Amino acid sequence: MDVTIRKATNADAAGISAIWEIIVAERKFSAVRRAWSADEQVAYLNRLSAREATFVADAGDRIVAFQTLDRWVIYPSFMDHVGQLGTFVLPEWRGQRVGQRLAHAMFAFTRSHEYQKLVIWVRESNTAAQQFYARLGFRECGRLSRQLMINDSYDGEVLMERFL
Ligand SMILES: CC(C)(COP(=O)(O)OP(=O)(O)OC[C@H]1O[C@@H](n2cnc3c(N)ncnc32)[C@H](O)[C@@H]1OP(=O)(O)O)[C@@H](O)C(=O)NCCC(=O)NCCS
Repeated sequence: MDVTIRKATNADAAGISAIWEIIVAERKFSAVRRAWSADEQVAYLNRLSAREATFVADAGDRIVAFQTLDRWVIYPSFMDHVGQLGTFVLPEWRGQRVGQRLAHAMFAFTRSHEYQKLVIWVRESNTAAQQFYARLGFRECGRLSRQLMINDSYDGEVLMERFL
Protein backbone atom coordinates (compact mmCIF):
# COMPACT_ATOMS: atom_id res chain seq x y z
CA MET A 1 0.00 0.00 0.00
CA ASP A 2 1.28 3.48 -0.80
CA VAL A 3 1.25 6.47 1.50
CA THR A 4 0.61 10.17 0.96
CA ILE A 5 3.02 12.58 2.62
CA ARG A 6 1.34 15.77 3.83
CA LYS A 7 1.35 18.36 6.59
CA ALA A 8 -0.53 17.28 9.72
CA THR A 9 -3.76 18.93 10.83
CA ASN A 10 -5.53 18.73 14.18
CA ALA A 11 -7.57 15.83 12.73
CA ASP A 12 -4.35 13.75 12.71
CA ALA A 13 -3.74 14.20 16.46
CA ALA A 14 -5.26 10.84 17.49
CA GLY A 15 -3.26 9.01 14.80
CA ILE A 16 -0.01 10.66 15.86
CA SER A 17 -0.77 9.97 19.51
CA ALA A 18 -1.39 6.27 18.67
CA ILE A 19 2.08 6.05 17.06
CA TRP A 20 3.64 7.72 20.12
CA GLU A 21 1.97 5.07 22.33
CA ILE A 22 3.74 2.32 20.38
CA ILE A 23 7.13 4.09 20.26
CA VAL A 24 7.01 4.79 23.99
CA ALA A 25 6.05 1.16 24.74
CA GLU A 26 9.05 -0.05 22.71
CA ARG A 27 11.27 2.01 25.08
CA LYS A 28 14.26 1.61 22.74
CA PHE A 29 14.02 4.48 20.32
CA SER A 30 13.07 7.71 22.05
CA ALA A 31 13.73 9.71 25.19
CA VAL A 32 9.99 10.30 25.54
CA ARG A 33 8.63 8.51 28.61
CA ARG A 34 4.89 9.07 28.12
CA ALA A 35 2.88 9.54 24.94
CA TRP A 36 0.88 12.73 24.60
CA SER A 37 -2.89 12.26 24.48
CA ALA A 38 -4.72 13.42 21.34
CA ASP A 39 -5.68 16.64 23.16
CA GLU A 40 -2.07 17.31 24.15
CA GLN A 41 -1.04 16.63 20.56
CA VAL A 42 -3.62 19.17 19.30
CA ALA A 43 -2.25 21.72 21.77
CA TYR A 44 1.29 21.07 20.46
CA LEU A 45 0.20 21.43 16.81
CA ASN A 46 -1.59 24.70 17.61
CA ARG A 47 1.50 26.06 19.39
CA LEU A 48 3.71 25.61 16.32
CA SER A 49 4.82 28.74 14.50
CA ALA A 50 4.41 29.14 10.73
CA ARG A 51 8.03 27.96 10.40
CA GLU A 52 7.37 24.67 12.20
CA ALA A 53 5.40 21.62 11.10
CA THR A 54 4.60 17.97 11.58
CA PHE A 55 4.40 15.91 8.41
CA VAL A 56 2.50 12.62 8.31
CA ALA A 57 2.51 9.55 6.08
CA ASP A 58 -1.16 8.78 5.47
CA ALA A 59 -2.03 5.23 4.34
CA GLY A 60 -5.68 6.16 3.78
CA ASP A 61 -7.13 4.35 6.77
CA ARG A 62 -4.53 5.56 9.30
CA ILE A 63 -1.39 7.58 9.90
CA VAL A 64 1.62 5.23 9.75
CA ALA A 65 4.48 7.67 10.41
CA PHE A 66 5.22 11.28 11.25
CA GLN A 67 8.14 13.69 11.32
CA THR A 68 8.37 16.81 13.47
CA LEU A 69 10.22 20.06 12.77
CA ASP A 70 10.70 22.48 15.65
CA ARG A 71 12.86 25.56 15.94
CA TRP A 72 16.04 24.85 17.90
CA VAL A 73 14.85 27.29 20.55
CA ILE A 74 11.48 29.04 20.81
CA TYR A 75 12.77 32.48 21.89
CA PRO A 76 14.01 34.90 19.16
CA SER A 77 17.69 34.06 18.77
CA PHE A 78 20.74 34.04 16.54
CA MET A 79 19.94 30.34 16.00
CA ASP A 80 16.73 31.00 14.06
CA HIS A 81 18.26 29.28 11.02
CA VAL A 82 18.50 25.98 12.95
CA GLY A 83 15.68 23.43 13.20
CA GLN A 84 15.39 20.06 14.92
CA LEU A 85 13.74 16.91 13.59
CA GLY A 86 12.20 13.74 14.99
CA THR A 87 10.97 10.80 12.88
CA PHE A 88 8.68 7.95 13.96
CA VAL A 89 7.42 5.10 11.77
CA LEU A 90 5.10 2.27 12.89
CA PRO A 91 7.07 -1.02 13.26
CA GLU A 92 5.38 -2.77 10.32
CA TRP A 93 6.10 0.20 8.03
CA ARG A 94 9.81 0.52 8.79
CA GLY A 95 12.38 -0.14 6.06
CA GLN A 96 9.99 0.87 3.25
CA ARG A 97 11.38 4.36 2.61
CA VAL A 98 8.54 6.08 4.44
CA GLY A 99 11.02 7.89 6.71
CA GLN A 100 13.08 8.94 3.71
CA ARG A 101 10.01 10.33 1.92
CA LEU A 102 8.97 12.29 5.02
CA ALA A 103 12.48 13.73 5.24
CA HIS A 104 12.55 14.83 1.61
CA ALA A 105 9.19 16.59 2.03
CA MET A 106 10.53 18.20 5.19
CA PHE A 107 13.77 19.34 3.54
CA ALA A 108 11.68 21.17 0.89
CA PHE A 109 9.63 22.81 3.68
CA THR A 110 12.73 23.88 5.62
CA ARG A 111 14.38 25.42 2.54
CA SER A 112 11.31 27.58 1.93
CA HIS A 113 11.17 28.64 5.59
CA GLU A 114 14.66 30.12 5.97
CA TYR A 115 16.40 27.24 7.70
CA GLN A 116 20.04 26.59 6.87
CA LYS A 117 20.68 23.68 9.17
CA LEU A 118 18.90 20.74 10.82
CA VAL A 119 19.92 19.01 14.04
CA ILE A 120 18.72 15.80 15.68
CA TRP A 121 19.28 14.04 18.96
CA VAL A 122 19.36 10.23 18.65
CA ARG A 123 19.80 7.74 21.45
CA GLU A 124 23.32 6.30 21.47
CA SER A 125 21.93 2.73 21.39
CA ASN A 126 19.67 3.54 18.43
CA THR A 127 22.20 2.78 15.70
CA ALA A 128 19.46 2.12 13.10
CA ALA A 129 18.21 5.70 13.42
CA GLN A 130 21.81 7.00 13.32
CA GLN A 131 22.28 5.13 10.02
CA PHE A 132 18.94 6.44 8.73
CA TYR A 133 20.00 10.04 9.40
CA ALA A 134 23.54 9.44 8.08
CA ARG A 135 21.99 8.21 4.81
CA LEU A 136 20.12 11.54 4.66
CA GLY A 137 23.40 13.46 4.97
CA PHE A 138 23.55 14.06 8.74
CA ARG A 139 26.93 13.80 10.45
CA GLU A 140 27.68 13.19 14.12
CA CYS A 141 28.88 16.34 15.87
CA GLY A 142 28.69 15.48 19.58
CA ARG A 143 27.62 13.10 22.34
CA LEU A 144 26.10 13.37 25.81
CA SER A 145 26.84 10.46 28.12
CA ARG A 146 24.30 8.97 30.57
CA GLN A 147 21.72 11.48 29.36
CA LEU A 148 18.78 9.06 29.75
CA MET A 149 18.04 6.90 32.75
CA ILE A 150 15.56 4.07 32.10
CA ASN A 151 14.99 2.10 35.30
CA ASP A 152 18.61 1.49 36.33
CA SER A 153 20.17 1.64 32.87
CA TYR A 154 21.69 4.65 31.18
CA ASP A 155 21.78 5.62 27.52
CA GLY A 156 23.60 8.48 25.83
CA GLU A 157 22.49 10.89 23.14
CA VAL A 158 24.22 11.45 19.81
CA LEU A 159 23.93 14.89 18.23
CA MET A 160 23.85 14.96 14.42
CA GLU A 161 23.68 17.95 12.05
CA ARG A 162 23.00 18.53 8.36
CA PHE A 163 23.45 21.75 6.43
CA LEU A 164 20.73 22.38 3.86
C1 LIG B 1 14.57 5.19 12.10
C2 LIG B 1 13.33 5.30 11.24
C3 LIG B 1 12.73 6.71 11.39
C4 LIG B 1 13.72 5.09 9.77
O1 LIG B 1 12.59 5.21 8.95
P1 LIG B 1 12.31 4.07 7.85
O2 LIG B 1 11.12 4.46 7.08
O3 LIG B 1 12.26 2.76 8.56
O4 LIG B 1 13.65 4.15 6.97
P2 LIG B 1 13.75 4.13 5.37
O5 LIG B 1 13.11 2.88 4.86
O6 LIG B 1 13.24 5.42 4.82
O7 LIG B 1 15.33 4.00 5.19
C5 LIG B 1 16.11 4.95 4.50
C6 LIG B 1 17.57 4.58 4.67
O8 LIG B 1 17.92 4.65 6.06
C7 LIG B 1 18.79 3.56 6.40
N1 LIG B 1 18.10 2.70 7.38
C8 LIG B 1 16.78 2.67 7.69
N2 LIG B 1 16.52 1.77 8.65
C9 LIG B 1 17.71 1.19 8.93
C10 LIG B 1 18.09 0.16 9.84
N3 LIG B 1 17.22 -0.47 10.63
N4 LIG B 1 19.41 -0.20 9.88
C11 LIG B 1 20.31 0.40 9.08
N5 LIG B 1 20.01 1.40 8.19
C12 LIG B 1 18.71 1.77 8.13
C13 LIG B 1 19.06 2.78 5.13
O9 LIG B 1 20.26 3.30 4.59
C14 LIG B 1 17.89 3.16 4.24
O10 LIG B 1 18.22 3.23 2.89
P3 LIG B 1 18.43 1.93 1.99
O11 LIG B 1 17.19 1.11 2.18
O12 LIG B 1 18.58 2.48 0.62
O13 LIG B 1 19.65 1.26 2.49
C15 LIG B 1 12.25 4.24 11.60
O14 LIG B 1 12.81 2.95 11.46
C16 LIG B 1 11.68 4.38 12.99
O15 LIG B 1 10.66 5.06 13.17
N6 LIG B 1 12.31 3.74 14.01
C17 LIG B 1 11.80 3.79 15.38
C18 LIG B 1 11.77 5.19 15.92
C19 LIG B 1 13.11 5.88 15.83
O16 LIG B 1 14.14 5.30 16.12
N7 LIG B 1 13.06 7.18 15.47
C20 LIG B 1 14.22 8.03 15.45
C21 LIG B 1 14.25 8.79 16.73
S1 LIG B 1 15.36 10.17 16.61
